Amino acid sequence: MVLLLTEKDLKKVLDMKEVIDLMEKAFSAFVKGETEVPLRPIINIKKYRGTMLYMPAYVEPLNSLAVKIVSVYPDNIVKHKLPTIYATIQLNNPETGEPLAFMDGSYITALRTGAATGLATKYLSRKDSKVLGVIGAGKQAFTQVWAVKEVREIETVLVYDVVKDKAEELAEKINERFRIEGRSVETAEKAVEPSDVLIVATTSVKPVLKGEWIKPGTHVNSIGWMGKDARELDTETVKKSKVFVDSKEAVLAESGDIIIPIKEGAITEGHVYAELGEVVTGLKKGRVSRDEVTLWKSVGLAVQDAVTAKHAYTKSLQEGVGKHFPL
Ligand SMILES: NC(=O)c1ccc[n+]([C@@H]2O[C@H](COP(=O)([O-])OP(=O)(O)OC[C@H]3O[C@@H](n4cnc5c(N)ncnc54)[C@H](O)[C@@H]3O)[C@@H](O)[C@H]2O)c1
Repeated sequence: MVLLLTEKDLKKVLDMKEVIDLMEKAFSAFVKGETEVPLRPIINIKKYRGTMLYMPAYVEPLNSLAVKIVSVYPDNIVKHKLPTIYATIQLNNPETGEPLAFMDGSYITALRTGAATGLATKYLSRKDSKVLGVIGAGKQAFTQVWAVKEVREIETVLVYDVVKDKAEELAEKINERFRIEGRSVETAEKAVEPSDVLIVATTSVKPVLKGEWIKPGTHVNSIGWMGKDARELDTETVKKSKVFVDSKEAVLAESGDIIIPIKEGAITEGHVYAELGEVVTGLKKGRVSRDEVTLWKSVGLAVQDAVTAKHAYTKSLQEGVGKHFPL
């Protein structure tokens, strides 16, 4: 029998704090060579400006084996009133190959992407960070804010989106859910200048964040991914930052935010300072001064999905959540 888990089921069993801890384990295993995670095949459906990504991973210490299939269609919201991202995950038994569960992957994507940002913020931002700026108030933004709030005493969140209603909606949700001040602002610059920590989570293909706006000591989380020819960060942001990534191999192959400044000759590959797993395992230092600007650039790693899916499966069995069905 295979366990079917819907988004509603996953919301019952997954908790942000636990997923942040899981990300720490997943990234540690990744840098210790205890995972098998090939570079993901990407299929471009140019006719519809869509992308399909196939993300398999095995994480030995957590006995997690899964594949996520995720789509990114940035025109969906306007054209079809559908989300940008859809995802499904299949979990298998590493001992036998038997399929164990089939689950919604969209919520897990948002939760684990937020949790990775939370982990990066815990290691890289200043401990006294109080103001959080957000550029891009779409689906991912809420779990990003949630995770940062778990690791820092955030008092104010300033939200900008090119669609004003989206920024207002998110600001309101932050007020209601977290009882901290959420406020929408009219320009990206206004979200950036007073902020100690930033979240950039857009579908923009051109820079939305300018390095000249960023004050010393800021920690930037940038999760937007629209392929290797697109970027949400300008060259100056990357150049002035100490850069931390989920996977050097993946970021250098897939992220326009890093690839474009390299092509311009503004930085070299060596400018990518460390993988987050190297920081959490103590192999490399994170922030070393109050004034440096740190950047977390993630493209998303399949190990994050595999460990979260396994955890959701185990908890669902314990708590009687989900439906069993025969194949
Ligand atoms: N790194 C990862 O692991 C990971 C995981 C999931 C999603 N993502 C990426 O995160 C991004 C956001 O995904 P989502 O599901 O929230 O998408 P979404 O479509 O729900 O939200 C994107 C938001 O960006 C806003 N936006 C677009 N251009 C902008 C601009 N120039 N200035 C300000 N705001 C702008 C849109 O109005 C929208 O509200 C995508 O690029 C996606 O590929 C990365």
